Amino acid sequence: MQNPATERYSSLETAVAEWVARVAAGSAVVIFSKSTCSMCHAMKVLLYGIGVHPRVYEVDEDPRSEEIERTLSSSTGNVVPVVFIGGKLVGSMDRVISFHINGTLVPLLKNAGALWL
Ligand SMILES: *[C@@H]1O[C@H](CO)[C@@H](O)[C@H](O)[C@H]1NC(C)=O
Repeated sequence: MQNPATERYSSLETAVAEWVARVAAGSAVVIFSKSTCSMCHAMKVLLYGIGVHPRVYEVDEDPRSEEIERTLSSSTGNVVPVVFIGGKLVGSMDRVISFHINGTLVPLLKNAGALWL
């Protein structure tokens, strides 16, 4: 049985899930980050070092941060940093590093239009 509070909550959840999907698909490289998370900082440094300028969303600076984090973990199975390249989920630091190590990160970034050289 739904009470009005639960309904409000579900529609917020749906709105946030749609927003996350739109943001993830809206730029060549997107990082959902937290300003206080050192792994998020390391992810930015890694991508900047390759020459990529990702779109960074600091989830903790958003009033819907709890909802966004819940959506990210349920839809991607990851906690921040969560990276999307070309609208596709890559994952967190370990995944990005494995793509980098096996040489598929740069081609992926080029295909997404995030790198030209
Ligand atoms: C590179 O690593 C990623 C992440 O583990 C994996 O999904 C992908 O299939 C690998 N590609 C190759 C060519 O090994």
